[in-house]
Amino acid sequence: MAELLVTGGAGFIGSNFVHHVIDTTDHSVVVLDKLTYAGNLASLEGLPAERVTFVQGDITDAPLVDDLVSRTDAVVHFAAESHNDNSLDDPRPFLDTNIVGTYTLLEAVRRHGTRYHHISTDEVYGDLELDDPARFTESTPYNPSSPYSSTKAGSDLLVRAWVRSFGLQATISNCSNNYGPYQHVEKFIPRQITNVLRGQRPRLYGAGQNVRDWIHANDHSSAVLTILAKGRIGETYLIGADGEKSNKDVVELILTILGKPADDYEHVTDRAGHDLRYAIDSSKLRRELGWTPKYRDFEAGLRATIDWYASNEAWWAPSKDATEAFYAAKGQ
Ligand code: NAD
Ligand code: DAU
Repeated sequence: MAELLVTGGAGFIGSNFVHHVIDTTDHSVVVLDKLTYAGNLASLEGLPAERVTFVQGDITDAPLVDDLVSRTDAVVHFAAESHNDNSLDDPRPFLDTNIVGTYTLLEAVRRHGTRYHHISTDEVYGDLELDDPARFTESTPYNPSSPYSSTKAGSDLLVRAWVRSFGLQATISNCSNNYGPYQHVEKFIPRQITNVLRGQRPRLYGAGQNVRDWIHANDHSSAVLTILAKGRIGETYLIGADGEKSNKDVVELILTILGKPADDYEHVTDRAGHDLRYAIDSSKLRRELGWTPKYRDFEAGLRATIDWYASNEAWWAPSKDATEAFYAAKGQ
């Protein structure tokens, strides 16, 4: 049994990971989360108080981080400013949290010799052409496009430097686009589901040809726990579930499942610098650590996600109006 410090544990994937740890191990968890607009304590409801402790705080707060790291066996670092569109509007919080926050954690785990796992994204590799047979691998050169992805790339490079220079006991994972319950309504899939539930039309950026490689958040969590337990120190592992879909196909599927005409959506202003396609080759993780995704049926996962949003309006409604006002001001 170990105690894990999980940063960003009140966010979409961090909270999924905390539930996964409690359900599948005997570890206890301390969650460190600032509760930004993206954090929600309701995502942690139902967890046993004797195994989960919540601390509200900022990962750039060095004394707080040092104190928490000094009392933990391993750190799993999810906390981030995570949304590309926000990073185009106001990059500064992305630099503070994603770069300075990661630096603050690295210095603390260096001082205390603590095992560290760094959560990152496939966006650090830039994008692929639609017809490119290649997929991202662990040796694809970094080529980020947005303020968000460049700060995530910067944070990954800090981890690599701390491993090489200071012998940090760290691993890194880069995952593709996650979907599932408890995702903020600013993100593509929940935005379109909640639009339709509210009688509004989905909004597709540009022509909708962009491709994302979807993975259920439960599979991301099981992969991270596998890497934490069995990953080789200093290594990077790509996480993906072979889920490539165009945005247009996803919107049409959401509309069809909700009983609407498949073409009942609007094309809106495209995202600046919009990455065309992401695709992950996760064979290293599967081959070396024996991980496989369980949620391979995207339509079944999407139906369950739609059911969750339909049944949990109290969770997402408080964020919906502000999110739509933000997009409306950008013509999106
Ligand atoms: P999210 O935006 O839903 O959650 C982020 C959480 O971090 C929130 O609870 C927020 O309150 C917290 N946080 C933000 N700034 C903080 C700070 N300074 N101090 C402490 N807590 C802070 O994000 P998510 O989608 O769950 O993503 C989690 C991680 O996974 C991020 O590192 C992201 O880059 C990575 N990732 C996300 C995806 C995806 O599809 N969403 C895919 C691959 C990797
Ligand atoms: O690839 C992993 C990344 O996936 C993570 O690192 C990020 O944290 C996460 O937000 C996600 O980034 P994307 O930019 O791919 O996700 P988003 O949900 O913002 O958009 C998915 C696609 O849908 C993208 O091509 C933009 C498009 N889109 C998005 C919104 C919000 C639309 O067409 N309409 C929309 O309303």
